[in-house]
Amino acid sequence: MTSGTRSRLGISIRSNELENGVRPRGRLVMLVAMPDPQPELFDKIVNLCKRRGFVFPSAEIYGGFRSTYDYGPVGVLMLRNVKDAWWRSMVQLRHDVVGLDAAILSPPQVWEASGHLSNFSDPLVDCRNCGARHRQDNLDNPDQCPTCGMSGQFTEPREFNLMFKTEAGPVADAGAVAYLRPETAQGMFINFMNVLNTSRKKPPFGIAQIGKSFRNEITPGNFVFRTREFEQMELEFFVPPDEADEWYEYWCKTRLEWYVEHGVDPELVRLRAHDEDELSHYSSDTSDVEFLFPWGWGELEGVANRGDYDLRQHAEHSGARIEYFDQANNTRYLPHVIEPAAGATRAMMAFLMAAYDEEVVNDDKRVVLRLHHRIAPFKLAVLPLSKKPELTGPALELLASLQGRWMCDYDETQQIGKRYRRQDEIGTPYCITFDFDSLDDHAVTIRERDSMEQVRLPISEVESWLAERLD
Ligand code: GAP
Repeated sequence: MTSGTRSRLGISIRSNELENGVRPRGRLVMLVAMPDPQPELFDKIVNLCKRRGFVFPSAEIYGGFRSTYDYGPVGVLMLRNVKDAWWRSMVQLRHDVVGLDAAILSPPQVWEASGHLSNFSDPLVDCRNCGARHRQDNLDNPDQCPTCGMSGQFTEPREFNLMFKTEAGPVADAGAVAYLRPETAQGMFINFMNVLNTSRKKPPFGIAQIGKSFRNEITPGNFVFRTREFEQMELEFFVPPDEADEWYEYWCKTRLEWYVEHGVDPELVRLRAHDEDELSHYSSDTSDVEFLFPWGWGELEGVANRGDYDLRQHAEHSGARIEYFDQANNTRYLPHVIEPAAGATRAMMAFLMAAYDEEVVNDDKRVVLRLHHRIAPFKLAVLPLSKKPELTGPALELLASLQGRWMCDYDETQQIGKRYRRQDEIGTPYCITFDFDSLDDHAVTIRERDSMEQVRLPISEVESWLAERLD
């Protein structure tokens, strides 16, 4: 779409061009024209997640627990694949990024320095009529309660800090106060000198981390889109100050493309630069990678130019010497930070929604998840045509020969057509059927998920055939 045209959602679309090297605020970068959101998709995904073992409501036998979720046998594989794909792109395939796994619990000093104790809050109002609690900044009408419809019943807004507070150790005194991290980022800032001194890296270089974060969200919802416990995948990329704008653009582009490289239709993702009044307390420039969820565009990931805010704050609050000594120029400086910060659980939901498809095959509805093979929970399934030991024995041998390399499923019950459909629904790219002919011709049938095409291959060639397509 060309610069400045209006979409069906009435949003101004801009081309990828920059003005004076910087993307102007409030502008959008779309890879292609946008489609309409599909509200009915939401229920289909939630049902599929429960039915096929992706995601279960947590503590369900006790009635569930406040928008928390557990990842089932299929979901745990998919979530792990999302994180592995991110780690592969952000750490493994780069020479300029190292990893870290910092603690989840940390003392108040960290959050005082980061600004989270004073700034990480939402304005909360209570309805005196029905007792419902709302984020004031999310209300369509700031005077009317969306739960009971009454006007003029809200209390004065009060700032509600989103961090979970706890006590570390047996004595509940002031010195025992600790917080569950609301972002993984601070672990990387407070370890900046440790990493610098041990990794032989110099700016521009990054520290990457994947892990759980916790926020006492006032309005969690939309399934795993906003929860109180979630996983983040964050990179803090430390750069010489005069290179910050260039690296900001680089990471905006790189992160948008990552989702497309992993199978998301370019129509479903876009980059949106924040307006001045949306910027966080630490950021001079932020763009969100957004996904077209069934309820409209929503944030998948934020790319922020954090300047030297965090390193400077921690240096001042801790008294530690935090700086980079540039030997070549004999100068010392505080690097600036470009931060692509993504949600793993939210990304998994977007991958599910982007991959979901229905079609009619032989008068029957086929539900298929057209997931990228790196994201798919299982890469293949071995399916003996019958439960008879003469077939299951060699089928299990074939399975064992492939399991060392790929996550494989095995299923010997039900009619083969139903087993194919089950694998389609969980996004398995290839099904390998071991039938009675296999006993004589030492060959198997491989069925491809998207096209449903089948090929007959000698068992001795199966691994190399799959490797060409899965590695
Ligand atoms: N360190 C910067 C930071 O944490 P953020 O935009 O607050 O930035 C980054 O969070 C990403 O983490 C979001 O884009 C989103 O994908 C994910 N995220 C944040 N809050 C979340 C929540 N309550 N539930 C699920 N994912 C969340």
